[in-house]
Amino acid sequence: MPSDPKFAKIRAVLDARRSQHLYRRTLLADSPQQPHMTINGQAMLTFCSNDYLGLANHPDVIRAFQQAANTYGVGSGAAHLVNGHSRPHQQLEEALAAFTGRDSALLFSTGYMANLGVANALLTSRHDVIYQDRLNHASLVDAGLLSGAKRVRYAHNDTTQLQVRLQAQTDPSVTQLIVTDGVFSMDGDVAPVTDLARVAQAHQAWLMVDDAHGFGVLGKTGAGLLEAHGLDQDSVPILMATLGKALGTAGAFVAGSRDLIEYLKQSARTWIYTTAQPPAVAAATLASLQLLETESWRREHLHDLIQQFRHGAAQLGLPLMPSDTAIQPLLIGSSEQTLALSQQLAQRGLLVTAIRPPTVPANTARLRITLSAAHSTADVERLLDALQQIHPTVPTTP
Ligand SMILES: Cc1ncc(COP(=O)(O)O)c(C=O)c1O
Repeated sequence: MPSDPKFAKIRAVLDARRSQHLYRRTLLADSPQQPHMTINGQAMLTFCSNDYLGLANHPDVIRAFQQAANTYGVGSGAAHLVNGHSRPHQQLEEALAAFTGRDSALLFSTGYMANLGVANALLTSRHDVIYQDRLNHASLVDAGLLSGAKRVRYAHNDTTQLQVRLQAQTDPSVTQLIVTDGVFSMDGDVAPVTDLARVAQAHQAWLMVDDAHGFGVLGKTGAGLLEAHGLDQDSVPILMATLGKALGTAGAFVAGSRDLIEYLKQSARTWIYTTAQPPAVAAATLASLQLLETESWRREHLHDLIQQFRHGAAQLGLPLMPSDTAIQPLLIGSSEQTLALSQQLAQRGLLVTAIRPPTVPANTARLRITLSAAHSTADVERLLDALQQIHPTVPTTP
C-alpha cells in the first residue's frame, strides 16, 4: 500500500541510508571461502574474510565434516539439554578446554548467542552493572542491553577510566561484569588484558574477553590473546571465542572454571533454548583445531604477510591504524570516500569492504583489510599496487 505510513517510515530510512552512502548490500559468492573467489560472477582477490588461517576450505576439514555427516546426519535435532548433544560436540568441548588451559568449555551456535547468553546468565538484577569498552562488538553491546543491567561504557582501552567507574560502585551485592573485545574487530588493536585482569580482580568483578579475532592467530600455540599474555582462568575467568573465523567453521565457545560452565548450562538461555549446532560442524572444527595445533607455519606466514603489508603501506603513506593483527584497516573518515575507494579496488578485481557507521563511530569510515595465511606474498603485492594506483584519493589523515 503506497500510502501506508508504516511502509513510508521504512522507505524513508532506506532513502536516508542511500543518500548518506550507508546503504549495505550482500555480494553473491559462487566459490568456497578463499582469497581468490568468484563474486557477483567476477574473479576477485578478497581481503575481507575472517578466515585468517585459510581453513574454511581445507580438505581435512571438509573430510571430517563429510564423515561426521555420514555418521550423525545433518541436523542435531534438538537442544543440548534434550538429545542434541552428540559425541563430536562433547569431544570438541573437551579439546577446546584443554587447548585454552581452562577446566571446561561450552559450545554455542554463534558468537553472538554466546555473548548474549553469558551476560544474561550472570547479570540477574537491574542493579547489576556491565562495563563495556566503547569500541566493543555489537553482540557485546546487545548482550548488555538485553541483560537489563546498568550499562557503563569506558573510553577505548582506558583502564584508568574503567577503574574510576568501578570505584563509583560500592554495593557488594551487585554483580559487576567487565566485557571487552580481545582484538577489536574493526580496528585490529588489542585490549590491555593484563591491566584489565588486575583491575577486575581488585574490584571482584567478572572479566570476559571476546577473543573472536585473536583465537587461532595470537599466542605461541594459537590459543589467542590470553595465551599471548599468560593469563589463566583465575586472571580472566571468562574466555569467549568464535569458530567461524580462524578455525574456518561456525559457532563459538565459552571456556572457564567448571562452576562457571555448569552455571551457564543451567542459566544461559541462548544455549538452553536453541538447537545444538550440527554435529558435523563440531567434527570439522575438531579437524581445524588439529591443524591449528600441528601447522604453526600458518600463523608464521600470516605474521609475515602482516609485516609485508604494513611496511608497503607505510612506504605509500597510507593511513594505517595501530594494529599488529590480521585486521589492517585504512582509516579514511568519510563514508562516501571510503565507498568510492572500495569501488575503485573492485574495478581492479580486489574486494575490500568499506566499513561505515553505525558499525564504526561517525566520521571514522575505513577500508577493513584482512589478511589470511591463504594469501601469498604476490597477493599482498597486488593489493599494495592497487592502493598505490588509487593513492591520490586516500587522505593521510581522517
Ligand atoms: C568480536 C566479535 N564477537 C562476536 C562476533 C559474533 O560471532 P558470530 O559470527 O559467531 O556470531 C563477532 C563477529 O562475527 C565479532 O567480531
